[in-house]
Amino acid sequence: MAEKATLILDGKTYEFPIITGSEGDKAIDISKLLKETGYITFDPGYVNTGSCISAITYMDGKKGILRYRGIPIEELAEHSTFVETSYLLINGNLPTPDELAAFSGLLNDHSLVHEDMKTFFSSYPRGAHPMGILSSMVNALRAFYPEVPERSQEEELNLTVARLLSKLRTLAAMSYRISRGHRVIYPSHELGYCANFLNMMFDSPVKPYVIDYDVVRALEVFWITSADHEQNCSTSAVRHVGSARVNLYASISAGISALWGPLHGGANQAVIEMLQEIRDSGGDPRPFIERAKDRNDPFRLMGFGHRVYKTYDPRAPIIKKMTDKILTKLGRTDPLLDIAQNLEELVIRDPYFIDHNLYPNVDFHSGILLRAMDVPVNMFPVMFAIGRLPGWIGQWMESMEDPDRKLCRPRQIYLGPTLREYIPRDKRIQMKENGEL
Ligand code: SDX
Repeated sequence: MAEKATLILDGKTYEFPIITGSEGDKAIDISKLLKETGYITFDPGYVNTGSCISAITYMDGKKGILRYRGIPIEELAEHSTFVETSYLLINGNLPTPDELAAFSGLLNDHSLVHEDMKTFFSSYPRGAHPMGILSSMVNALRAFYPEVPERSQEEELNLTVARLLSKLRTLAAMSYRISRGHRVIYPSHELGYCANFLNMMFDSPVKPYVIDYDVVRALEVFWITSADHEQNCSTSAVRHVGSARVNLYASISAGISALWGPLHGGANQAVIEMLQEIRDSGGDPRPFIERAKDRNDPFRLMGFGHRVYKTYDPRAPIIKKMTDKILTKLGRTDPLLDIAQNLEELVIRDPYFIDHNLYPNVDFHSGILLRAMDVPVNMFPVMFAIGRLPGWIGQWMESMEDPDRKLCRPRQIYLGPTLREYIPRDKRIQMKENGEL
């Protein structure tokens, strides 16, 4: 017999179905609540609310589990490539060698961007944040690559997916180069996805970039661990905007904007800025920890805590291991790493953080890794966006194919003024003078 939840409201009893996921996760299906009871639910930030049924990513916040299409993130980080993981997230299964070769070839075919887009970059103020540039450039892609009526919807979508996956990486490197007054480096069909990006970022006419394939692998693993994360803020933005039947470019542009926030994907930049502030104040993290514990102080420890994980973020140790490997390989030390390690040791022993289940998340370590790759700090959220793109695409496509798809339009509880009349302007002046307004 199907499980049900019983609700008693105003003396009446209602029953709502229970939905059970493939890993035993459960939800009360309240899709008929308003119609049957006249009530809505109230759940700021959707902490207790499931927005969809999905088959893409599974997370267990208590056990620290993350799987893409059922495959553990640890195995993908160990054995997969970013292009292969992108294929998995978008298409549902790992590709055959021929499918992977065809997919990689498609990405190569669409790695250039329209030359006229360079004028967009050059008219941006030099200090513009790359995430703002990227979000608007992605929206602009629709104008440069409009739909062609002769193509079927499926052909159009496959082309748009390939263009986005390949051009977002190119646009990101272009925004970095142009912001520094350097000439744009074009992608090369001789290089793989990740090596191409590093070459587009760092090649120089006077000192050709020497590709270190350990650094390439570190970038690959960073992007694999960033690729999807169920219904996080930016993925929900992509689904929400997409529900209005707007094109994929505009939906992804909304996702980039949401990811920019320091509470979300912008945290990797905020972590480094916080560690630099600790360094510049003498290197002792304890005053910052005390501020983070003070409820009257809005300061949060960047890189700690997570809406879902109430234990270690399973991506954090993967990133940390890759960071240690790269720093050793490059023979580098990073003073911020020592501060980060000291901060982490103090925090994981602090009763406040233990009681609040606040552990290091992926962003706590990813900033140090990106610094080791010489990526400038304001590009950190852009790096996250390139990694998250296949997840956004897969989730958007799943939402479009959802038989229960609806326009996303939440309700509210109104606590504003009750009915009142319009007061003519001259009367308002009088009332103001009488102190009645
Ligand atoms: C990402 O959702 C995803 O999956 C995101 C992501 C992905 O891959 O897409 O994993 C990527 O965004 C990781 C998170 C990066 N953000 C940060 O590192 C910013 C710092 N973290 C916090 O702002 C916070 O932990 C959030 C936003 C990440 C989650 O916060 P919640 O779930 O909304 O919880 P909350 O803000 O209601 O906090 C619950 C309690 C509060 O204390 P009380 O009022 O209950 O006493 O925990 C405290 C908070 O004050 N708290 C923190 C804290 N995070 C939460 N206190 C100090 N420092 C922190 N970092």
